[in-house]
Amino acid sequence: MTALRTQVAIIGAGPAGMFLAHMLRQAGIDAVVIERRDRAYVEGRVRAGVLEQVTVDLMHRLGLADRLVREGLVHDGTKLALDGEPFRIDLAGLTGGATVTVYGQQEVMRDLFDAAEAAGLTTVWNAADVTLDGMDGPCPVVSWRDAGGARSLTCDYVVGCDGFHGVSRHAIPAGILRTFERAYPFGWLGILADVPPADHELIYANHERGFALASMRSATRSRYYIQCGLDGDIAAWPDDRFWDELCLRLGPDAGGRVIRGASFEKTIAPLRSFVAEPMRWGRLFLAGDAAHIVPPTGAKGMNLAVSDVTMLGDALAEHYRDGSSAGIDGYSRRALARVWKAERFSWWFTSVTHRFPTMDGFDRRIQMAELEYIRSSPAAQRVLAENYVGLPLEVA
Ligand code: FAD
Ligand code: DHB
Repeated sequence: MTALRTQVAIIGAGPAGMFLAHMLRQAGIDAVVIERRDRAYVEGRVRAGVLEQVTVDLMHRLGLADRLVREGLVHDGTKLALDGEPFRIDLAGLTGGATVTVYGQQEVMRDLFDAAEAAGLTTVWNAADVTLDGMDGPCPVVSWRDAGGARSLTCDYVVGCDGFHGVSRHAIPAGILRTFERAYPFGWLGILADVPPADHELIYANHERGFALASMRSATRSRYYIQCGLDGDIAAWPDDRFWDELCLRLGPDAGGRVIRGASFEKTIAPLRSFVAEPMRWGRLFLAGDAAHIVPPTGAKGMNLAVSDVTMLGDALAEHYRDGSSAGIDGYSRRALARVWKAERFSWWFTSVTHRFPTMDGFDRRIQMAELEYIRSSPAAQRVLAENYVGLPLEVA
């Protein structure tokens, strides 16, 4: 058994873990990231596509924004469609100039990993059987096995950034942890294809047959999603069937502009809302998907992971610099205040854009009335816009 020592142990090398590692390095705090998979696997996962200003700001602050500035697509508006009729939400005009940036999570991870290698951040890959001990005492220990054998890492603090299926959250005793959950009776079938996008902005479409989303990664790469059943049968969705269904749901205007091509990625993701409280127990903190999940409709998942670690990174820096515990003591309350508002928005946006199996004619008319109201009311559009671009870091 090799015994190691650091100030902060970070479990998981996803967006939460790697952004936090860079923040701690900038503050002169020693940290080790422990990841179950290898770099290629983490970087290869096709996930989020829309960055809020909070995320863009942190990339600038960490000196990681060169490629983002060159290649990111800044969007000052987004579109909604009801039964094929699109209308635009002027995000910038309704929020005093706020925008979102389309830049894939894969690109974010590549920038984080390249900079981590250049800076010599310590990352342990392929760590098996990660175990957390002594989180409620003065010297927590993280243990695992890797190619070099069994390891144990003693530290001041542990941050669980290991996603929804990680181990960290389960280290909090059942009598302390409270969880809140909603599972949705459908999933998203997503594809990537090297074809120009149908529109220069995103289109969130509510159609009688179900939800569809037109997104992109660049001027030559499109990302499209359609709501699907949860049976997980990808084979039932050959490309032709996907394109036909997508075009139908987007309607004649946008659907007519869809350029078809061979998909090179096709996956089904379930939709879930989930929050675990508190986000700190003793010397263990939780951040990102380890503590909360949102359905992807609001494009909030990765952005919430970043807002958590922005708060936590600054609080830990203050703690090591000044000896103050105010920031780390307030972390769970501050983070959860923002998390719940993003949970509400993601749940609401999902409810008004998707077809639920239990929906009857009344439910459908209410949904249509809500979207018609948004189309006609600047006040309703403003509520949507200020949530979509991302609420400020401090919301309570
Ligand atoms: P993760 O990205 O999950 O990273 C956690 C890391 O911890 C992983 O690298 C994992 O390998 C590692 N890990 C897990 N267990 C252990 C362990 N026991 N020991 C060590 N390491 C461990 N968001 C959007 O905004 N838009 C989308 O379209 C979208 N699509 C998504 C599709 C899928 C299938 C999923 C799962 C998520 C999607 N999200 C989307 C959400 C977004 O990708 C996440 O919110 C974001 O990745 C959260 O970052 P994180 O660092 O908290 O967690
Ligand atoms: C993408 C994903 C989302 O969940 C969303 O709301 C917008 C865009 C994307 O992958 O491009």
